Amino acid sequence: MSQLLEKIDKKSLPRHIAIIMDGNGRWAKEQGQDRLFGHFHGVESVRNIVEGCAELGIEYLTLYAFSTENWDRPEYEVAGLMELLVSTIRKEIETLNKNKIRLHVIGDMGMLPEYASKELEEALEITRNNPGLNLVMALSYSGRWELLNAVKNIASEVKKGTMNVEEIDQDTLQRYLCTNGIPDPELMIRTSGEYRISNFLLYQLAYAELYFTDVRWPDFRKENLYEAILDYQGRERRFGKTSEQVEEKSESL
Ligand code: IPE
Ligand code: IPE
Ligand code: MG
Repeated sequence: MSQLLEKIDKKSLPRHIAIIMDGNGRWAKEQGQDRLFGHFHGVESVRNIVEGCAELGIEYLTLYAFSTENWDRPEYEVAGLMELLVSTIRKEIETLNKNKIRLHVIGDMGMLPEYASKELEEALEITRNNPGLNLVMALSYSGRWELLNAVKNIASEVKKGTMNVEEIDQDTLQRYLCTNGIPDPELMIRTSGEYRISNFLLYQLAYAELYFTDVRWPDFRKENLYEAILDYQGRERRFGKTSEQVEEKSESL
């Protein structure tokens, strides 16, 4: 068994890990290949990390696969990514099901080409009763789009008279996000040496621990995931309190 895996405290795992899978294009370019070659190899990392999370018993894994802003990439890359998405779902659905993984999607599904949204709908339906890892794919997603959407929907409830402004609290807002029912990520990982959020889960990441690595997504494997979890487990999460308060609480447990 991996030495890193042995070091992980199985009792204090994050319930939800979110990953910005970045660096496919540079990985490909470094080998003199086309960007799509990088995306293609990125799928192997997805497979490996989904398996790693399922083995550990992580409850939720959110993968940022395509942002609202990514629609502005060259047409051939967008088309290639959509085809890769559909062919991957088709190939992997049986394995997902066998491993009791439940697929979820967050993002503006209306933007996806019909053949892709149809394939996704089917996969969501096939896996909907699976009790294992919840795999959340962020597709055509951005935090600002999600918040705008929530505000519009809440405003229309108020206009209809089905909601009072005074009643609106944090729980209300959470219910109108795409992640309704999903706990906030405790750990957010970004690969490939970029230190930014790029419009990912802006609301939900409020208190997430952020972990950045230079490893490009197509090279990211379970061992790298274990390293990130170990780093997370070495941190003190204070949520605005003092270190002393946090220590007192953990001693009294
Ligand atoms: C991440 O890799 C995958 C997507 C955004 C779809 P990139 O394609 O952003 O790769 P780099 O950042 O250009 O290397
Ligand atoms: C963020 O990566 C989106 C995904 C990984 C899907 P980008 O590569 O699009 O982000 P920027 O442009 O470097 O901020
Ligand atoms: Mg990138």
